[in-house]
Amino acid sequence: MYLYGASGHAKVIIDILEASGEKIDGLVDDNPEVVQLQGYPVSHESKYLSPFIVSIGVNAIRKKIVEKLDGVRFGKAIHPSAVVSPSASIDEGTVVMQGAIIQADVRIGKHCIINTGASVDHECIIGEYAHISPNSTLCGNVQIGEGTWIGAGTIVIPGVRIGRWSVIGAGSVVTKDIPDGVLAVGNRCKIIKALNTNALTNKDKK
Ligand SMILES: CC(C)(COP(=O)(O)OP(=O)(O)OC[C@H]1O[C@@H](n2cnc3c(N)ncnc32)[C@H](O)[C@@H]1OP(=O)(O)O)[C@@H](O)C(=O)NCCC(=O)NCCS
Repeated sequence: MYLYGASGHAKVIIDILEASGEKIDGLVDDNPEVVQLQGYPVSHESKYLSPFIVSIGVNAIRKKIVEKLDGVRFGKAIHPSAVVSPSASIDEGTVVMQGAIIQADVRIGKHCIINTGASVDHECIIGEYAHISPNSTLCGNVQIGEGTWIGAGTIVIPGVRIGRWSVIGAGSVVTKDIPDGVLAVGNRCKIIKALNTNALTNKDKK
């Protein structure tokens, strides 16, 4: 397995792969000054390497790198301490971190991050490139759109739908649906501003 992105986020993925007994062949990073991470070599060219996990925490950048790597295979990383229902599905490129719990019939899209201790309950649907931050709780039947970032410790009550490329601030309690492309925070979670997601959403509409 190769990792694209030699950052703090990659350090956690290295721990996950090592704990799973998965071989790590090396990392790739665009910064020529980074030459090793946690004892693994970092190169600056991804040509002919495969499979990859894109180890970049920012959802929009992760998507950009995945699109740049067009044609390569992607792996996934699931820490052995995570509890994953046999009826859940987890797509390629996704990382499930230490202590996360993924319940029955959950569907998690490509290149997501289910971070440390996050709880994703029955029948949730998580769109690609979403990030569910540490200790967040998604109750049953919640839907999270593509690219959306759920801040640490957020609670989303059952059946709520959160749109695409939105951000929910840490510690929020989301009781009602949230649309695409907004920043919303607080208990009860309220929209405080629109985000500039034109580049992401226009491309998707093609
Ligand atoms: C929401 C967030 C992304 C900041 O976004 P931002 O666009 O930089 O917003 P600002 O910091 O300018 O804050 C705007 C307002 O929202 C408030 N605010 C920001 N985050 C908030 C939160 N989580 N809960 C409640 N209010 C919050 C700020 O206090 C500020 O209020 P004010 O206008 O009355 O001063 C950030 O605060 C946050 O919660 N990040 C999540 C971090 C996280 O979970 N990381 C996990 C990584 S693994």
